[in-house]
Amino acid sequence: MTRTELEERVEEAALLVSESEYVVALCGAGVSVESGVPTFRGPDGLWTRLGQPSTNSYREFLDDPKSWWEQYLSRSADPARAEFRDAIERAEPNAGHAALVELERAGVLQHTITQNVDDLHRRAGSRKLTEIHGNRTLVRCIGCEARWPREQIAVEEYPPTCAQCGGMVKADSVMFGEPIPHGALETSLLEIERCDCILLVGTSATVMPSAGFPRKVAERGGCVIEINTEETGMTEQADVVLRASAGEAMRMLARRVLESTRPSTGSGRTGFGSS
Ligand code: APR
Repeated sequence: MTRTELEERVEEAALLVSESEYVVALCGAGVSVESGVPTFRGPDGLWTRLGQPSTNSYREFLDDPKSWWEQYLSRSADPARAEFRDAIERAEPNAGHAALVELERAGVLQHTITQNVDDLHRRAGSRKLTEIHGNRTLVRCIGCEARWPREQIAVEEYPPTCAQCGGMVKADSVMFGEPIPHGALETSLLEIERCDCILLVGTSATVMPSAGFPRKVAERGGCVIEINTEETGMTEQADVVLRASAGEAMRMLARRVLESTRPSTGSGRTGFGSS
């Protein structure tokens, strides 16, 4: 996409956002690429290079939580996890995260649902945030779903148990085969019910239940704006496609939307359609 084409698409996307009542962002690994965190799929994706973890990961954890905790605390992860963990521990939020925060603070973005566990949205300042696949800096009780910082868990015995309900505690990151925590799923579904414009930012939109969210919005006549460097299964259904990195496209989109929402400064660019 040429620069001029991107600017034109951003103009169209900004108009759709400004005309919408309830904008929700659904984010994936592509948002964190400019922070140095690898994606999972696609040519250089973690799963592509090192293989996807077993879909029985959660079953294996439940069968032997003690061994899982011993490996988790010893940081003796397999190469895929070690690479992902090390990249995240070096990562800082990037312009894409910051643009989402700007739109949230301006009251334009009502909620962000992220599939990323890297904590970068929260560190950037997002507050209207659901981490549907969890947050790797937290642990969670699988009984009552209470979450708290990993450092606060005193691991005298494996697996640690919840002080509130006595349930078993695990890392908050959702494992393959693990149900999405009820609270996160319920909030996400409520936000998607209210959404009339969804920003698909850096996600292949292939993993349920998140992959179903843009389809629900489109079926209700809401608009879908895809921000991705590559085509996805949602490209055909998108009303506008910003074929660029999340950092560049989100910065341009936030700037254009916020220009149109600011009171006129005599600069001539007060709303849409005015040059
Ligand atoms: N800017 C925007 N998009 C990008 C960028 C970038 N700089 N770089 C890559 N992308 C896009 C890719 O084209 C791809 O469509 O980001 C997407 C990443 O897709 P996946 O690797 O499938 O990641 P994601 O969609 O987040 O996967 C969902 O799958 O394995 C699970 O738990 C994992 O949360 C993850 C879920």
